[in-house]
Amino acid sequence: MIIHTISELRKIIKDWQKEGLSIGLVPTMGALHDGHKSLIEKSVSMCGKTVVSVFVNPIQFCPGEDLDKYPRTLIQDEILVNKAGGDVIFAPSPAEMYGEGHILSNDFLTYVVPPYFYTDKLCGKSRTGHFDGVCTVVNKLFNIVRPDFAFFGEKDRQQLIIIKKMVKDLNIPVEIVACPIVREKSGLALSSRNKYLNETQKTDALALSKILFNINDCFKKGIKDVNALKETAYGFLNENHDLEYLEFRDADNLEEKTVADLNTVVFIAVKTAGVRLIDNLKLG
Ligand code: PAF
Repeated sequence: MIIHTISELRKIIKDWQKEGLSIGLVPTMGALHDGHKSLIEKSVSMCGKTVVSVFVNPIQFCPGEDLDKYPRTLIQDEILVNKAGGDVIFAPSPAEMYGEGHILSNDFLTYVVPPYFYTDKLCGKSRTGHFDGVCTVVNKLFNIVRPDFAFFGEKDRQQLIIIKKMVKDLNIPVEIVACPIVREKSGLALSSRNKYLNETQKTDALALSKILFNINDCFKKGIKDVNALKETAYGFLNENHDLEYLEFRDADNLEEKTVADLNTVVFIAVKTAGVRLIDNLKLG
């Protein structure tokens, strides 16, 4: 079932709450794939009812990014949600979420702004304001759905860490459940933006997971110095790759590491054929 308005969704949720059912929320921007399916299935296994939000959130896109061409595939999304056992899709319009003229009147929004220390690095460095947009919409979704549990993929690990911080800092009564990255057999992490890639570009995109798995192998063989581990990456890159970052950071607070340990996450972002891809791996 697809619901487009906040008031309609709230009615349904009230009924579920009266029945004493726990509620899981899987926030998405649609173009759902097996990674999202795993989040929905996790929610279904833990919660009485599962809401999947499908909303391409305009305020988390920076000027010049792919807001207009971001894949919108609600009919196929509904099929995937049903297969995974989700109960309701919440697919509001931008006007439903932010009011008419929302894009022109961003100044009038109340934003949730996460700490600069968490947002001035990795994806936040090139995507100014992105995490303000993410936290604002996720906070709104939490207020609309009032979930007991909310499910986020480790694919967007910086986002996951920032959302956990927001929930802790603002005492939001929801438990955040982190779900592992789902990969193709080739190693490529599933992403809605993979839809932009043709087969050749997909092959180029494999460099990200190859770099991460190779770094992890080196770490397991005893190399702990981050500079030495970084050096191992360059052999996987060619002229089609524009490396945005390769960084080693603490899994809880994103502090930079110079010596890798078991609480280190390696984060990578690469542009290939104009498409920006990200991936990460916790060492060990
Ligand atoms: O990860 C995403 O798809 C989005 O950033 C989210 C969490 C749905 C907020 O728009």
